[in-house]
Amino acid sequence: MTTAAEKRAKLTAPAIRQMKAEGTPVVMVTAYDYPTARAVEAAQLEAILVGDSLGMVVLGYESTVPVTMDDMIHHTRAVMRGVETVHVVADLPFMSYQISETQAVENAGRLMKEGGADAVKLEGGRTMATKIAAIVSAGIPVMAHIGLTPQTASALGGFKVQGRSLEAAKGVIDDALAVEAAGAYSVVLEAVPRQLAKIITSRLSIPTIGIGAGIECDGQVLVNGDLLGAYDRFTPRFAKRYAELQTVMQDAFRSFADEVRSGAFPTKEHGFAISRDVLEQLEGGM
Ligand code: KIV
Repeated sequence: MTTAAEKRAKLTAPAIRQMKAEGTPVVMVTAYDYPTARAVEAAQLEAILVGDSLGMVVLGYESTVPVTMDDMIHHTRAVMRGVETVHVVADLPFMSYQISETQAVENAGRLMKEGGADAVKLEGGRTMATKIAAIVSAGIPVMAHIGLTPQTASALGGFKVQGRSLEAAKGVIDDALAVEAAGAYSVVLEAVPRQLAKIITSRLSIPTIGIGAGIECDGQVLVNGDLLGAYDRFTPRFAKRYAELQTVMQDAFRSFADEVRSGAFPTKEHGFAISRDVLEQLEGGM
């Protein structure tokens, strides 16, 4: 615990991992830009995920599939400029790591070198274990992501809860054990029943960070567009809105437009003046 006078140290991957042993929840939110990163730093959350949810929440795509490495690097750099102590994890986008271990290491390296991230995240369990191991061997911390994996939502039959049947639940447990064995320092559990998340959390030594996975996880993550109410296309059932930013923005834009149209804005205090002397010379010369 730090006092207000004591500055918190930068949170590294080992520090995040250690939080499980200490029983301290890891609180993570997505961010894609400088002002949001500043707000997360001021609020002293532990971690930011520069998620590929960027594609939907900020870039307006229908899914995360079109997001590119260049998109991720661009937004990770903006976030890094806004944080001091918050741990920043950058998502490897669709098809930037699935092809080979070499491709996975190269692109994870780009997020670290060019983006400045503290760690990378990728989606997949047993099938991605060799990619996780290769990236970790290169000295890059990996956060895994299992359960509902949005990049492959079409193969999963849509954005559906995972691990409800006995067989499917065993599969998610095997995925969790596989990513831990491969060297991941934490794992996101998305849209799995809370009882299954509890079993997984008790069997792993690395922190589980839940989104739609119940209270028993070692931490929680939410997409900021859902949390802030800025993304108004839909809100998943598992997200809680803590603000209504889309309404706040619309109201502010309407007020601005009304004042411009009525002549109420700008007033003198929003502008600049020249001295009477200069003005007289200016007008005299015309
Ligand atoms: O991209 C993202 O925002 C994510 C979260 C849903 C965990 O992966």
